[in-house]
Amino acid sequence: MNNTQFTPRVFSGIQPSGGLTLGNYLGAIKRFVDMQNQGDFQTVYCMVDLHAITVWQDPAALRRNTRELAAGFIASGISPEKSILINQSAVPEHAQLGWIFSCVARMGWMSRMTQFKDKAGKNAEASSLGLFAYPALMAADILVYHATHVPVGEDQKQHLELTRDIAAKFNHDYGVDFFPEVEPVIEGAATRVMSLRDGSKKMSKSDPSDASRINMTDDADTIAKKIRKAKTDPDALPSEAEGLKDRPEARNLVNIYAALNEQTVEQVLAEVGGQQFGTFKPALAELAVSKLSPISTEMARLMDDVGEIDKLLANGALQAREITAPILKKTYEIVGMVG
Ligand code: AMP
Ligand code: TRP
Repeated sequence: MNNTQFTPRVFSGIQPSGGLTLGNYLGAIKRFVDMQNQGDFQTVYCMVDLHAITVWQDPAALRRNTRELAAGFIASGISPEKSILINQSAVPEHAQLGWIFSCVARMGWMSRMTQFKDKAGKNAEASSLGLFAYPALMAADILVYHATHVPVGEDQKQHLELTRDIAAKFNHDYGVDFFPEVEPVIEGAATRVMSLRDGSKKMSKSDPSDASRINMTDDADTIAKKIRKAKTDPDALPSEAEGLKDRPEARNLVNIYAALNEQTVEQVLAEVGGQQFGTFKPALAELAVSKLSPISTEMARLMDDVGEIDKLLANGALQAREITAPILKKTYEIVGMVG
């Protein structure tokens, strides 16, 4: 199987299950913008509301979070003229192909998914069936566009391997060459942004401690305060990346600096090596505020007119369905469905 027969197309999604964090921005959205502007791909970006409801979402909060995520995408530089921006539930082919893939994927594959194990916790019996089937719908999100490239953070690697397995099994079982082999794009200094309170945990919108993360809607003072209070060790910064090896908190702050400033870790350390955190943290706070405040200001402005956001999303869904409807139709034919 090779992908030369497929249009180079990027798909990625984020759950509207809470506010956006710096982890989402650096691990995902910033790279979505780069791939959009690179011009080598058609780009499709999605609020995955059907994935969000695999755990309970208050309906009013889900509506607000979906629109706020759309505002976050646009404020960060996703342009509805250059990319297709959609809400997952508005493009029904995602869920329709998701069902087919639930019949292709095996229980054993799904039960090895670490995100399910983490989210279900000790009480897997009480988690929703949707939470278990989550990766089959994710595979459908991607493959219903015949997408070839998927930019994500490190935590999604296993789900993308499963997506490849589902595509390969479908192609094999039906004797076709229909779904592409998806390439994960996991690159840059910030594929795994860690909690500011614990360098062994990923920064997450669901962490009970607000001090553990930077939210895209935090104001300048809050961002500066969270960085000042971020957990670190007492040593000065090293001049080489090797010196960050057993210092997860220091490494995290340097990675964040590098990603925000579009530098490599080596370039950052060449400049800041030898500095104490008392000097480095204010510089990082200033950099973070200068990059993030324009985005949060623009998000707030966009949220003043949700009618405009809804209009953009309705238009995105129309554009998306021009791609997804024929691919779903062909899938149904391959599977043997009539009508
Ligand atoms: P989620 O918020 O779980 O829907 O994640 C949306 C995207 O953000 C995915 O591509 C994740 O891999 C990425 N992401 C979430 N948290 C982080 C993090 N702490 N570091 C890097 N990427 C992240
Ligand atoms: N599972 C992803 C997350 O939690 C979100 C997601 C759903 C996604 N469908 C996708 C990401 C398709 C990339 C492509 O972050």
